Amino acid sequence: MRVLTGIQPSGVLHLGNYFGSIKQMLEYQGKSDLFIFIANYHALTSLKDGKALRENTIDAAISFLSLGIDPNKATFWVQSDVKEVLELYWVLSSYTPMGLLERAHSYKDKVAKGIMANHGLFSYPVLMAADILLYDSQIVPVGKDQVQHVEITRDIALKFNNTHGEVLTLPKFKIDENVATVPGIDGAKMSKSYGNTINIFTTLKELKKQTGKIVTDSTPLEEPKEWENCNVYKLCNLFMNENELLELQERYKSGKEGYGHFKATLKDKIWEYFSEAREKREYYLAHKDEVKDILNDGAKKARAIASKKMEIIREKVGIL
Ligand code: ADP
Ligand code: TRP
Repeated sequence: MRVLTGIQPSGVLHLGNYFGSIKQMLEYQGKSDLFIFIANYHALTSLKDGKALRENTIDAAISFLSLGIDPNKATFWVQSDVKEVLELYWVLSSYTPMGLLERAHSYKDKVAKGIMANHGLFSYPVLMAADILLYDSQIVPVGKDQVQHVEITRDIALKFNNTHGEVLTLPKFKIDENVATVPGIDGAKMSKSYGNTINIFTTLKELKKQTGKIVTDSTPLEEPKEWENCNVYKLCNLFMNENELLELQERYKSGKEGYGHFKATLKDKIWEYFSEAREKREYYLAHKDEVKDILNDGAKKARAIASKKMEIIREKVGIL
């Protein structure tokens, strides 16, 4: 079973990204033929600073390797290292009705947010279709906002297959319904754009600062506290097992500790949870050549599949 997903290199990763997406992605590793790439061509639609894009791309590669992508179990590469994707993007463009793209929510949302309405942004789903179809992907794990793009991919593939026979594999999207929305330090959905994140790779000092700012009620230290709706507790829930949570509930009820104590417990838990990933990240930051080798190997594997697929497609459409 080929499972493929793309990651936008969009900078600093937070707990929402990890528990809402990265953890699920990693669960496919070892169980299926996992293909993961860094979508740097897609990132061009929103990032125009070349130096920043270059740095974000390698930084995303380092972060994902540190968090558990194993290049021996998954094929991991940078999108732009397999140029066939751009060729397929163009071929598919001629099988993509305008109306399909005009209906895309993501385009409308981005323009409403003030991103320039350019052609790259508009045809973004066609490039995503090329990413998916080039590798005969069967399952595409995505967040809710990307479901429509996978549906567009299916529509484009159907149009192509109607003309040329069963050439392209129709993918299915997969969203994990069990994934809860991770709250930020203000209780709203954790998101870069709300400035309410707790970041995965940060210093202990910064982590202390971020957890210290979590909004709680003002129950005095000596009174029992409610844990059910507490943001600190909700975040602890991501890191603790059942016994630890029961113990924490007792501490909330005891009236002997304040929120500062619970925040300190959370900080320690987060720090411990990502300690191995942090060490790996330090290692890769000091060995970037190794990271580049891993990505080159991944690109080689991906390209071998892509070039065969493109030969078939060129043959069908009549490109010499
Ligand atoms: P941000 O909102 O910080 O810009 P992105 O849109 O880059 O985050 O999200 C990347 C992935 O992380 C998406 O698949 C999304 O579903 C997941 N994600 C982001 N924030 C959260 C959250 N607070 N809770 C659960 N999942 C999240
Ligand atoms: N558009 C996706 C996002 O913003 C990233 C992406 C690009 C992708 N190509 C893909 C995801 C192919 C899945 C499959 O998150």
